[in-house]
Amino acid sequence: MRLCGSRHFCESGVQFRDVNSIGGLTLGKSTGVAYVSGCAVEIEGMKLVLKRVVGWARRTEAEKVMLRHRFQFIRYRALYLASHVFSLFPIPLVLILRICGSDKHKSGQHRYGYTYRKLFWPYKYKPIKLLEIGVGGYGVGLGGESLNAWQLYFPFAEIIGCDIHDKQRLATLNTKIYQLDQSSRDQLEMLAKLEEPFDIIIDDGSHLSSHQILSFEYLYSALSDGGVYIIEDVYTFGGTCIKYFINLQRYIAVNDLKDVDMGNRKLANWIKEIRFDGNLIIIIKGVNGTSGVENLAKSECRGKAAEEGRSLNSRVVAT
Ligand SMILES: C[S@@+](CC[C@H](N)C(=O)[O-])C[C@H]1O[C@@H](n2cnc3c(N)ncnc32)[C@H](O)[C@@H]1O
Repeated sequence: MRLCGSRHFCESGVQFRDVNSIGGLTLGKSTGVAYVSGCAVEIEGMKLVLKRVVGWARRTEAEKVMLRHRFQFIRYRALYLASHVFSLFPIPLVLILRICGSDKHKSGQHRYGYTYRKLFWPYKYKPIKLLEIGVGGYGVGLGGESLNAWQLYFPFAEIIGCDIHDKQRLATLNTKIYQLDQSSRDQLEMLAKLEEPFDIIIDDGSHLSSHQILSFEYLYSALSDGGVYIIEDVYTFGGTCIKYFINLQRYIAVNDLKDVDMGNRKLANWIKEIRFDGNLIIIIKGVNGTSGVENLAKSECRGKAAEEGRSLNSRVVAT
């Protein structure tokens, strides 16, 4: 699969990035290292001390960028190492998100931790596979704050991170990183083929409605039966994807798909529930009580539930 020379713009017209380097999906390798952290306030204090130690004030801009990268990388690795022990304890997810510095739960930003702690608790000690689009840091910083959080929260999870920028340095033993553009059908399809099934999918990538819908249509089939698909920050660029999901919701309730412009209408049979939670849309996979039951041969799906559900959906996406 190839992709070259394309440019991406967000809906506001601001240039988003260059994609010249992407030759399809690139899988990261694992590396090692260590380091420290604390809770959000302590981190700020530590930053000040560190700045003194490294003589921050008299450094050139280039040196500052390099030091910042090094610091972020060491921090990422330290939290990753710590996760091998701390993930075994039921540490509240809200606290973990704060420790890791994720904007998913930060004052003045989002409060997703309250929703996620309930949603993810049933998965906490299970060998799940979690996919997140959007590693963070964009083309400048290292990112990986939410990867750290998932590593610290789920002791037995396999984590897949994807970003349009190369984030392969963040790969670890339980975390694979792909370089991927979520506006590319080919790349989404290939990711699904390589890595399905997922138990949790989080779209925290470009936040463009068109990308959010496309990713949903290509990745939903790779979600296991009963799995959770989350789209974050739906209002960032106007939230036009909300209408799409409201229409889907109507389909689930009254079997009416006439205003839904779906790439694949049969996916709708596999939506058990859609929740609109502030700036989040949460979709729970399963046979729904209206259309799903009618459209699927009753005996087909229930027996070997997850396995059969997945293969049925894979066929659906291919059509
Ligand atoms: C909000 S940040 C993710 C933050 C991270 N999930 C966290 O919670 O710490 C969004 C990320 O999406 C990436 N991104 C932007 N457009 C993308 C695209 N078209 N495909 C994949 N990733 C994209 C950016 O490079 C950026 O790193």
